[in-house]
Amino acid sequence: MLKIPDIKVPVVEIPFRKNIRLFIKREDLIHPEISGNKYWKLFHNVNNYLAENPQNPLLMTFGGAYSNHIAALSALGKIHNIKTVGIIRGNELEYRWKENPTLRFASENGMHFCFVSREDYRDKDALSEKLKNEFPKALIIPEGGTNLAAVEGIRNMLNSDTQDFDYLCAAVGTGGTVAGISKFAENHQKVIGFKVVDDDSLHSRVSELSGKENFTLIDAHFGGYGKISDENIAFINAFSREFGLQLEPVYTGKMMRKLFQLVEEGYFPQNSKVLAFHTGGLQGIAGANEMLKKQNRAVIEKGVSS
Ligand SMILES: Cc1ncc(COP(=O)(O)O)c(C=O)c1O
Repeated sequence: MLKIPDIKVPVVEIPFRKNIRLFIKREDLIHPEISGNKYWKLFHNVNNYLAENPQNPLLMTFGGAYSNHIAALSALGKIHNIKTVGIIRGNELEYRWKENPTLRFASENGMHFCFVSREDYRDKDALSEKLKNEFPKALIIPEGGTNLAAVEGIRNMLNSDTQDFDYLCAAVGTGGTVAGISKFAENHQKVIGFKVVDDDSLHSRVSELSGKENFTLIDAHFGGYGKISDENIAFINAFSREFGLQLEPVYTGKMMRKLFQLVEEGYFPQNSKVLAFHTGGLQGIAGANEMLKKQNRAVIEKGVSS
């Protein structure tokens, strides 16, 4: 069973030029391998399942080659001695997955892979149905871990340290994290989700999962999901040099870049207290850097992350 970690993660101030106060909650420190929001999205999903299926548990989920969620689930499987299977987007990876640091890590943790074509992967409902028929006792966790149980788990990211902020910010992929923040935010708080995916269906998804309309979703995909521009790399490197905090290129780097832009544009009223959640995912930097090196481009420098 997953436990509530015995650690209170710090909330650190990012000294800023404009007339707001900006803080980061280091949710990435919640666990060394099941980092940030991943821990909380899996928390009730896995615990509810284990309570009902203590014998031979099997966890299955979906993800791309660089997925933080795949990495996190594989680590959870290893730590708790549970079999895990990753349904991975892209059957071209079947013979090349060892070149990918995330999949190497997941495999070392004991995860088995099933590679599916991008076309089949798109119809995840059909894939889930197939898996349910084949493995009726398995827990089939949706992509990104997002469902109602995940939203409940995100409640643990909010506590007395977060209550006084005017704005709560998080990167949005599948929407579960920001839905949980929205659901459990205080009445006076506004929630901003920074969409790193160009997906118009996210608003209705988040509102369905949260049941509230206290949130705004803002585009922060900067060219598309997983696309890493030189400007984003420069931003991440400048950020870690100036503030001693490591961001990654797919979620937190894009959230923070857009957040800085909003501050510059005067989006926030004077003296606002703004909190951004660092949702982890630093494992993805190795894969991003391998790709950047192959393209002879600047890489993400290793900054201080704890
Ligand atoms: C580092 C990081 N930040 C943010 C997110 C977005 O979370 P969600 O998919 O719940 O929107 C993810 C995906 O789980 C992630 O890995």
